[in-house]
Amino acid sequence: MNRKGIILAGGTGSRLWPITLGTSKQLLPVYDKPMIFYPLSVLMLAGIREIAVITTPDDQLQFQRLLGDGGQWGLSLTWIVQDRPEGLAQAYLLARDFLAGAPSAMVLGDNIFFGHGLPETLARANARATGATVFGYRVADPERYGVAIFDETGQVTALVEKPARPPSNFAITGLYFLDGRAPDLAAMIRPSARGELEMVELLERYRSEGSLEVERMGRGFAWLDTGTPGSLLDAGNFVRTLQDRQGMQVGSPEEIAFRQGWISHEALAERAALFGKSSYGTYLEAVLRD
Ligand code: DAU
Repeated sequence: MNRKGIILAGGTGSRLWPITLGTSKQLLPVYDKPMIFYPLSVLMLAGIREIAVITTPDDQLQFQRLLGDGGQWGLSLTWIVQDRPEGLAQAYLLARDFLAGAPSAMVLGDNIFFGHGLPETLARANARATGATVFGYRVADPERYGVAIFDETGQVTALVEKPARPPSNFAITGLYFLDGRAPDLAAMIRPSARGELEMVELLERYRSEGSLEVERMGRGFAWLDTGTPGSLLDAGNFVRTLQDRQGMQVGSPEEIAFRQGWISHEALAERAALFGKSSYGTYLEAVLRD
């Protein structure tokens, strides 16, 4: 069964308030494009074309206006509402009908990944039909994230959410490849003290049966956070620096769709024309000539 994608773009962006007042944080621009384009691009790079976008009830219309039905990128988008931010693992309950037993890749709407070999890393995770794959990334401030604990042989012995005293520097990123059992396993979890269905709890189900793989993303990767005003600005500067230096786009759905063979030359030309004389339009013209 083909793996399906989920973008979790609900929540409040509480640490960005009041910047996000009246809009979803995942619609804010990271340099030159909406934040959600970056996680969307990751799913596309993984070869995933059926994607559910989970938003708050209030934000859904804005997201729909931006992304449409996904047909312009050769995708099929499904829309799901999360009434209240009751935890990342709740996404699997809400997406049960959409997934219909298929394995999934879920990405948080505010996570940005960039790095050499990313498509290959994603392909490896995609190829595992059963179990779960998550990505560990070394950070200076692990207390802000889910953290993995390893034993001497490199096996994960536990995952903890935002530990006051982090047992390691390996944060678990917001990208989760789970098998088709995820909705059933999520249904077994009870809300935590903070009232959320915790992702670490769901992952613990896989870990305890020995089917959790933690792939380390090395120092050649960038995993960026957009949770605070400062980190949002840093992410924008990072994207700008890369794009200006290389003359290549980070997180362009048009380019990925074209290179994946999901949209035709003509369809890309139409998109390029739509963006006109903007730098993005000019870039897509160059991709067409390539
Ligand atoms: O970014 C990676 C981290 O994401 C992981 O290391 C943590 O294990 C994981 O819990 C999560 O931590 P955060 O502190 O970033 O979670 P936050 O509550 O800020 O939610 C992350 C995104 O998901 C955010 O854009 C809002 C959205 N969200 C969150 C919850 C709890 C929802 O759409 N619905 C929800 O119920």
